[in-house]
Amino acid sequence: MAHILAPSLLSADFAELRKAVELIEESEAGWHHLDVMDGVFVPNISFGLPVIKAIRKHARKPFDVHLMIVDPDKFIGAFRDAGADHLTVHLEACPHLHRSIQAIRAAGMKAGVAINPHTRVDLLEEVLADVDVVCLMSVNPGFGGQKFIERTYAKITELKALRERTGSKALIEIDGGVGMENAGKLVNTGADVLVAGNSVFGAHDPKAAIRSLA
Ligand code: DX5
Ligand code: ZN
Repeated sequence: MAHILAPSLLSADFAELRKAVELIEESEAGWHHLDVMDGVFVPNISFGLPVIKAIRKHARKPFDVHLMIVDPDKFIGAFRDAGADHLTVHLEACPHLHRSIQAIRAAGMKAGVAINPHTRVDLLEEVLADVDVVCLMSVNPGFGGQKFIERTYAKITELKALRERTGSKALIEIDGGVGMENAGKLVNTGADVLVAGNSVFGAHDPKAAIRSLA
């Protein structure tokens, strides 16, 4: 499978975050996925800037930071300074999405846009050519360990067609409920990046889990 695996630290033991980062570094995984939640855009709070800054020192692979927060524009520079390489904002949280994408790129990061399960893929049409990563949420954001939404396969197919039509080079990232049972089908359908939280850090042997998902 020619794709990137991005383990989500949300499912790691937060008392041992450094060890989780080191495990990802030593594994076949390509990126670290970091879920930032504010308790407003999503009904949960995770971690933020100082935590990302602290663990960045122990990583060389890219930090793929997924912002599940309202008004992300306010923090673009701060996340860059904390060590984000890719910054993903939610379409649903950005009334001026085009401006947010430009600001992320101007700050020197790859720009990602995430869409919730209820959001239509074609709403990305006007920005897709300027985006580096599209994150299709395959669960409702806020929690790890939820059940994969099957409709995601159709959204991947729609997004591939839209990518072609707009001349975009955006990677298609799938986030939520990814595991051994669906990883192969997701990649065959067109996923370029798989995020995996529970299926990695909930596994008896996280390194072996990464190896089989990567
Ligand atoms: C959900 C987060 C995901 C989450 C995925 O809001 O965006 O990145 O960590 O976790 P799993 O793989 O357990 O569904
Ligand atoms: Zn995420």
